This record gives sequence, C-alpha cells and structure tokens, in this order.
Amino acid sequence: MSGIRPTGFLHLGTFFGAIRNYIRMQEEFECYFMVADLHSLTTHPDTKELRSNVHRVLAENIACGLDPDKVALYCQSHVPETAELYLYLGMLAYKGELEKTTTFKDKVRQNPQNVNAGLLTYPVLMAADILLHRAKYVPVGKDQEQHLEMARTYVNRFNHRYGEVFPEPQAFNFNQQLVKVPSLDGTGKMSKSENQMATLYLADDDEMIRKKVMKAKTDSGPTVPHAPKPDYIENIFMLMRLVSAADVVEKFESDYNNCSIRYGDMKKQLAEDMVNFISPIRNKVDAILGDEKGLQAIMEKGAEKANKSAHATMQLVRESMGLKYY
Ligand code: TRP
Repeated sequence: MSGIRPTGFLHLGTFFGAIRNYIRMQEEFECYFMVADLHSLTTHPDTKELRSNVHRVLAENIACGLDPDKVALYCQSHVPETAELYLYLGMLAYKGELEKTTTFKDKVRQNPQNVNAGLLTYPVLMAADILLHRAKYVPVGKDQEQHLEMARTYVNRFNHRYGEVFPEPQAFNFNQQLVKVPSLDGTGKMSKSENQMATLYLADDDEMIRKKVMKAKTDSGPTVPHAPKPDYIENIFMLMRLVSAADVVEKFESDYNNCSIRYGDMKKQLAEDMVNFISPIRNKVDAILGDEKGLQAIMEKGAEKANKSAHATMQLVRESMGLKYY
C-alpha cells in the first residue's frame, strides 16, 4: 500500500524512486495505490485545482505502467471508512508525539498561520490508509520513515488493547538502494518544489526537456586521464545511465577517461535520449486525460476494490473494539 499526494507534477525522481517500485510490486503482491487527496487538504485548503491534479496524478501513474486491472488504484476520499479508522487511531496517538514529528515541525515553520489539527494528525491519517488494508509493505522514501514508525506504534497499541488485528507495516523497496535522481543544476536531487528548471517533469514538452538538459552545469573537461568526476559531471553520467543505451554511456565514459569528452555532444545525446524516454509517457498521459469516462471507470473500479478490503478490516476493528451492541 502506498499513497501519492496530488500536489505537483511527477518528475524523473518520482519515476525512478517510487513508481518503478510500484510497477514491480504489482506483479508480486496484492497492491493498493491511493491518491492522497485528503492529505493534500492539510496544506492546500484551496481545492480549485484538486480535480485536475487528481486526474493528472492518476493518468501519470497509469502512463508509467501502473495497471488498474492489477492493483487497486483509487482516491482516498472514495473510501470513507478511512475517516472512521482515523478517528479510532486518533485515540491511540498522543499530542506530544505528534508535535515531535519532523514533517509537522517543517510545515509549522513553512506556514505558521495554518497549523491546523489535520496537519498535526497527518501521520494518523496515513496510518489509517495503511491499516485499512492491513498492509505489510509500504513503498515509501526516507522522508516517510518516521510516519511509518508511528503507524507501527499505533498497530502495537491497538493490538495490545483490543487484540491482534493489524500486522506491522514496514518500508519496502526490494532490498535495493533507493534511486536518487540528481537535479540538473548539480545541487541535490530532483524535487517537486525546488528549482523547476533543474527537474525534468513527465509533462515537459520536447523543447523544454532539451533546454533543461543543455543548461546542465559542466566545465572545460578533465585534463588528466582517469580523473575523478566532479559531482555535477557524475550527475550527468547518472542521468545518462538511467535513460541511454549502455554502449552510449560507455563511449562517453571512455571519452572522459582519455580527456577527449565534449560535454556539448554528451548533453545533446542525453537530451535526445530523455526526449525518447519522456515523450511516449507524456503522450499516454494526454490520451488518458482526454478520456474522462475512462478515468471515471478506473476510479470507480479502484474504489470498489479498496472499499471491499476496507470494509472487511473495519468489521474486525469494530468487533475487536467492542463497538457492537446487537
Ligand atoms: N505521506 C505520503 C507522502 O507525503 C503520502 C501518503 C499518504 C502515504 N498516505 C499514505 C504513503 C499511505 C504511504 C502510505 O508522500
């Protein structure tokens, strides 16, 4: 089980960091992937763009290979029992613990005039999403580990007080290093919110992709054979390894090692390989977004699967809690 916030376009970092994992998981597990529209309300109370953002995030995930026939792909708000479980878990979550959560403290710092109760209990809602399906594996990045730890705490408190209902959810990534896709300006990794010109979005058109790649930082090249690569150069190689053919990467590696590399040529090659990688996904996204009826059918089907699983869990939850009077 995992959730995707509908705030911002997907980029290459999300693709290689998260979605690729989902696509692999869908072949081996019973999966629930959810668009976290309710979570987005904690920081984005203005809902003017919510509908189009939810559609886009669904379309982008499907275009990347998530198969709505194999997984339950649904919207959080289409599964109302989420709110019920959130309420029960709220009684097992302590204010002091919630206030210590790193993401909460960050959000308070960023937006001190909107410290709402929903923001404080964000990890409780996330735990509800996961526990609703009694999920064991949760593919998430490092930034969500603390939330997952809190979900385990609520599981243990619940099971201890009311009986074994939930397994302990754990982070999952096929025992691989999480892929970090470097940003094009040589600082950090690609991200939704930071420097947009340094991040390649799945929605970027071909010209934009070329422009961004060609702007990537380089220098005048190595002066001694087999020199260590500066970070920003290693980043370009890293991006190339993600989307270019192996022999192409090898050629530039050996050019680098014998000091004959021309970064202009390398970036041109990378730009074309990026275009070839991103444009088919972008075209698929557009086709999916153009078919509103189809999208609706996908959401309905996902909601049906998710509600079925949620319903079974909530029967158990109410019974074990003693909320059953006839
Ligand atoms: N909090 C997650 C994020 O910001 C999104 C999310 C919501 C989630 N519910 C979840 C992730 C349940 C995993 C499981 O990315």
